[in-house]
Amino acid sequence: MLNPRFDALRDHPFRRLNELVADIVPRTNEAPILLSVGEPQGQPPALLAETLAKNAHLWNRYPPANGTPELRQAIKAWLIRRYGLPDAMIDADKHIVPVPGTREPLFMLGQTVVPERKNGQVPVVLMPSPLYHIYIGAAISSHAELVFLPATRANGFLPDLDAVDPAVLARTALMYVCSPANPQGTIAPLDYLKKAIKLARQYGFLVAVDECYCEIYDKHAPPGALEACRDLGGGLDHVVVLHSLSKRSSAPGLRSGFIAGDAELMARYFLMVSYGGVPLPLPIAAASAALWNDESHVPPTRAVYRANFDLAEKHLGKCPGFFRPEAGMFLWLDVGDGPATAKRLWAEAGIKTLPGAYMARADANGVNPGGPYLRVALVYDSATTDMALQRMARVL
Ligand SMILES: Cc1ncc(COP(=O)(O)O)c(C=O)c1O
Repeated sequence: MLNPRFDALRDHPFRRLNELVADIVPRTNEAPILLSVGEPQGQPPALLAETLAKNAHLWNRYPPANGTPELRQAIKAWLIRRYGLPDAMIDADKHIVPVPGTREPLFMLGQTVVPERKNGQVPVVLMPSPLYHIYIGAAISSHAELVFLPATRANGFLPDLDAVDPAVLARTALMYVCSPANPQGTIAPLDYLKKAIKLARQYGFLVAVDECYCEIYDKHAPPGALEACRDLGGGLDHVVVLHSLSKRSSAPGLRSGFIAGDAELMARYFLMVSYGGVPLPLPIAAASAALWNDESHVPPTRAVYRANFDLAEKHLGKCPGFFRPEAGMFLWLDVGDGPATAKRLWAEAGIKTLPGAYMARADANGVNPGGPYLRVALVYDSATTDMALQRMARVL
């Protein structure tokens, strides 16, 4: 009865983590702390609840599939401010579709763009490894061949685009780039984004640039793919960027983000949502517009993560595998054996972390680039983070 194609989705990282620690009862009286999930624990700005309340009379309305004009305008204004784009580059109606968080569009892009055959052959979806697992789900559900581009310490945790075989590029229908990267926090330089876009245009595929951690950075604001488009002449063809309020405004429960880029893709995506997607309810659209229009809450949010990385450096800086990420909310910690260390941390300190192996897939030589790593989500306030990191240091 069930489509066996989806059996591969059982490799979901949190399912595997639950299995790994299912039989372990922590040998500590300290309260468990979950550093496994990248869920911001800070409160979103009051503006969110206030705007929802002001628009509560709109819950009885079906929302349009591409959001409201006010929300699209707020998003356009944010993009122009954030990335220094010329006003004429973005048409709020043609280039932007608000979405209920970025997970859904990351998944739906597969079905939206991957054809049955590309140049008469099985199509490919290119993706980094390690990665946000939704890219895998998208490729599987669109019947594509999955090709993983390892992001390792040796290549600065940035997949080597020059290493991709031109025969594979000719079959590629979709490539995911994640910058800042989950899990390593690597920021793709502008030239890297330009190279990805040029390849997409040369070989006729879509490059989907997942930028949902773009406001959570340490020293330098990450460049965006739309800046790369600007420098390449201003066209948005073959490019889509994905942005979210989950991290920028600590509002993962709001389910609000947007996709922006290629006008033809946006029109098709709008059509897909009109059949089987979830448009943003009108009160949520109003609250989202208010959040994109407000910059005042963003630097304090960023400061919380920066302070957490200071604490990580203090407590774990001497661990041989430690590095301070450029952006994002995760430590990507080389501990030698990720699953074994995750078990010890849970058993001995009540600290749950995610083995890097579960976020990656083996390369052509059978080596899983995430194998030695743990992903540690530093998403709590300073006091909780300090306590958690001290407990980790005790075990490591
Ligand atoms: C790399 C990456 N992209 C996208 C998402 C999805 O976030 P949301 O659906 O809340 O926008 C996440 C969530 O953790 C993520 O880590």
